Amino acid sequence: MPDACQPLIEARDVSKRYGTGKAAVTALREANFSITAGEFVAIMGPSGSGKTSLLNLIGLLDRPTAGVFRIMGTDTAMLSPDAEARVRNYHIGFVFQSYSLLPRRTALGNVELPLAYRGVRRKERIRRAQAAAIHASRHISIRDGRIIGDVPVPAGQMALSAASYTPLLVAS
Ligand SMILES: Nc1ncnc2c1ncn2[C@@H]1O[C@H](COP(=O)(O)OP(=O)(O)OP(=O)(O)O)[C@@H](O)[C@H]1O
Ligand SMILES: [Mg+2]
Repeated sequence: MPDACQPLIEARDVSKRYGTGKAAVTALREANFSITAGEFVAIMGPSGSGKTSLLNLIGLLDRPTAGVFRIMGTDTAMLSPDAEARVRNYHIGFVFQSYSLLPRRTALGNVELPLAYRGVRRKERIRRAQAAAIHASRHISIRDGRIIGDVPVPAGQMALSAASYTPLLVAS
């Protein structure tokens, strides 16, 4: 569990560069910041300013090319692939624009799956998934018998993350 005094996320001179030589693109240049538990942080900037690159680092989907990136005090460069997967599963919830839901599973099945990997028992998985679905459904609007706009899918994603009870929620 994260220590209340320790930042959830800490970036020290973090840079992200894609490619090499003349074709190299620097997406992040020596970024320094920390995020503590309970903080709500919005990353804003024009297209190409590095928002997705930064979110990928925060979600442990990518590594910096320079600098130190810590999650709950651990330098991500020190994490083995297994340890990294565990941190993602236990500590990070994702809400992606691209949804990333598995088409062969029901909505509840999608919500339950990360909990199964975490060893949560079936009964408890179903309880949490249903509670999160009820919560998400309160945010879905219906007019003339139809669901309005593209609200339900992000709501489903929120449910997915909420059921995981992770200390860090990354939304893109
Ligand atoms: N996989 C990649 N390979 C090469 N260059 C990349 C890659 N991903 C991003 N870039 C470049 O890095 C820079 C930052 O891109 P990034 O996608 O992080 O920006 P963004 O702020 O998320 O933009 P948008 O608002 O359009 O989503 C851009 O110049 C982009 O072209
Ligand atoms: Mg982006």
